[in-house]
Amino acid sequence: MNNQSLGKIEFEKNMFSPLPIALVGALVNDVPNFLVIGYMCPFDFGRYLFFSLYKKRHTRIGIHEHRTFSVNVPSEELLVEVDICGSKSGRDVDKSSLFEIFYGELETAPMIHQAPINIECEVAEILDYEQNDGIIGRVVKSYVNAECLSEGKLDMQKVHPILWATGGDFNYYQLGTRIPQEKDDKD
Ligand SMILES: Cc1cc2nc3c(=O)[nH]c(=O)nc-3n(C[C@H](O)[C@H](O)[C@H](O)COP(=O)(O)O)c2cc1C
Repeated sequence: MNNQSLGKIEFEKNMFSPLPIALVGALVNDVPNFLVIGYMCPFDFGRYLFFSLYKKRHTRIGIHEHRTFSVNVPSEELLVEVDICGSKSGRDVDKSSLFEIFYGELETAPMIHQAPINIECEVAEILDYEQNDGIIGRVVKSYVNAECLSEGKLDMQKVHPILWATGGDFNYYQLGTRIPQEKDDKD
């Protein structure tokens, strides 16, 4: 049986999606700046985060200078701010006033108070691709809003992440309902 008789069509777009979008923050010339990243990938079981950053992004200046950045998971409530961060550059617009900003252990990784999940990272490695940097960040500390926990565990349904579909779809989606499963109580 060939692929076509199985109803399979070769399709070149990225279909490993949807993924939750992130607002990545960095301090650029002493001004906190945030952009939307749609392809954020955890690895080493979440000890590191990886994403690709176009070299023309304003945020890149701060990441290179301080070797730190933050990853903030916005909720649906922040869609207006997300649209601004994903379409306007800090070169032209001051995006620092969109949010209440706080700092953790790293003093140069601005985090967003209104985002329910915040992760501060230090740069472990930067991969130099033609148009992009591959940024690998080591997670230094993570924070979550207390109201997003259920019995001490992260409850993603309380976070209301914004999921972004690629593969030509390019729309935002909400997280659906949990699939009930019998399981042992492990991480
Ligand atoms: C849904 C979505 C996903 C995006 N993903 C990325 C990405 O993975 N890498 C990137 O460099 N830009 C990405 N962008 C574009 C930047 O967020 C956008 O160009 C931003 O305005 C750059 O801001 P800056 O110049 O202040 O850094 C994405 C935008 C949107 C709306």
